Amino acid sequence: MTLPVSLAPEVPDGVDVLGVPVAKGPVLVGHGHGIEVGQLEARGFEGKVGETATLAGEGAGSLVAVGVGPAEEVDADVLRRAAAALVRAAWKRRSLATTVLEALPPDGDRALATRAVAEGAALAAYRFTRYKSDPDPCRLEGLSLVAADADGLAPHLDRARATVEGVCLARDLVNEPAGSLSPSDLADRASEMAQRVGLGVEIIDEIEAANLGLGGLLGVAQGSEQPCRLIKLTYDPPGATRTVALVGKGITFDSGGLSIKTAEGMMGMKTDMGGGAAVIGAMSALPALAPSVKVIGFVPATENMPGGRAIKPGDVLKTRNGTTVEVLNTDAEGRLVLADGLALAVEEQPDAIVDLATLTGACIVALGARISGLMGNDGDLVEEVRTAAERAGEPAWPLPLPQEYRKQIDSEVADLKNIGGRSAGALTAGLFLQEFVGEVPWVHLDIAGPSRSDDDDGPLVKGATGVGVRTLLEMVMGAEGLSAPVSGQST
Ligand code: BES
Ligand code: ZN
Ligand code: ZN
Repeated sequence: MTLPVSLAPEVPDGVDVLGVPVAKGPVLVGHGHGIEVGQLEARGFEGKVGETATLAGEGAGSLVAVGVGPAEEVDADVLRRAAAALVRAAWKRRSLATTVLEALPPDGDRALATRAVAEGAALAAYRFTRYKSDPDPCRLEGLSLVAADADGLAPHLDRARATVEGVCLARDLVNEPAGSLSPSDLADRASEMAQRVGLGVEIIDEIEAANLGLGGLLGVAQGSEQPCRLIKLTYDPPGATRTVALVGKGITFDSGGLSIKTAEGMMGMKTDMGGGAAVIGAMSALPALAPSVKVIGFVPATENMPGGRAIKPGDVLKTRNGTTVEVLNTDAEGRLVLADGLALAVEEQPDAIVDLATLTGACIVALGARISGLMGNDGDLVEEVRTAAERAGEPAWPLPLPQEYRKQIDSEVADLKNIGGRSAGALTAGLFLQEFVGEVPWVHLDIAGPSRSDDDDGPLVKGATGVGVRTLLEMVMGAEGLSAPVSGQST
């Protein structure tokens, strides 16, 4: 259940809360609607992005000023945060309207801004209340986005709605405790979704996985009582001009295996299927968004546990494409399951592969909690995904895949080893994945940091963020127009 957002040509009568943008500058700049700038200044309101102040309004309604920063810097990202702030300010009220779009400079991207406002508001209203005896859900029944050109903007609202549902599905899956979301539960949830929205779905169980030679996935699964699954989802519209494969790490719990994590390190490891959840969430929105792109999603799903049959440091696994891997640290399990997922993706002969994974602590050290690491073997595709991530408000920063470091994953006994030493951990993980994509243009997003948030922040709510869903959808929707068969490789 997400917050319904609608467009209105003017402020509807009788709204409980009207949110009005106020820009920062030498003096505050209000956008009409009864905002008394002097009163705000007297209260110490500075107009910072997302800052709010409630003023008495006409009638029963209240007026909330929301800061949007310097007027000339207002863009989709600013308005996304402003909308989220308004929802928090109006949490216990029934109806909210906002004129934030009026703060967008004339040369701003109105379509993107409309989506950003709708998404920011709905995502800030998200709560995972399943296990709360006394939840405090958002009481808002709807948000009216005031825009003179309401009619023309309607399709963008539809797109935002589908996107938000995809993000919320991903958040729900990630927030669900590992004890109630085993690999087969995850597969069941993906199947139900696929049937509901009209995607193709195939669930590969542990027996089929053995037949297919998914040695990486099966190896990680050995230490768990729970059988593994490989989830395959397909969106195949008629007349597709491009094929994109998505691969998401689906470790439903990462204890580290025999290379066991510390108690502190294990906290939050139910989040280790965040990449898989992003793939499932993004796929769920495709039938509604209807891009002319074929999209195939793969989620190798297993627990990483230290059971009696668990893989031991020094064991060698044989992956789907025949590459053998010496497992020297069982906690570097993500790359083992992704090896099989990527190899299967390559077999579909896609034009591009994007994988998402909560892969390395090293990436958090490098880029922190809000920025994903972005690596790949094709400059154009890296830039395409980087731009999509930026437009989506999910920043990703390019990191290199230096060939000089490739030797760090050479093994004494097998083709590769699964750890690359202390330095450049995010990069050696990326170099490992690169071994499984052949010549296919590929991008890897390390989302270890951004998959969770420690606080409510703009569209993010403490807990799962659903990061990746918006980026993937932005990419697939953007790719539509760019997909003229220049390379001649599309089928
Ligand atoms: N799932 C973890 C990475 C992770 C750490 C995600 C913290 C989110 C927060 C991954 O499986 C892991 O344990 N990676 C190891 C790799 C190392 C053993 C080479 C790491 O980053 O320490
Ligand atoms: Zn691990
Ligand atoms: Zn992991």
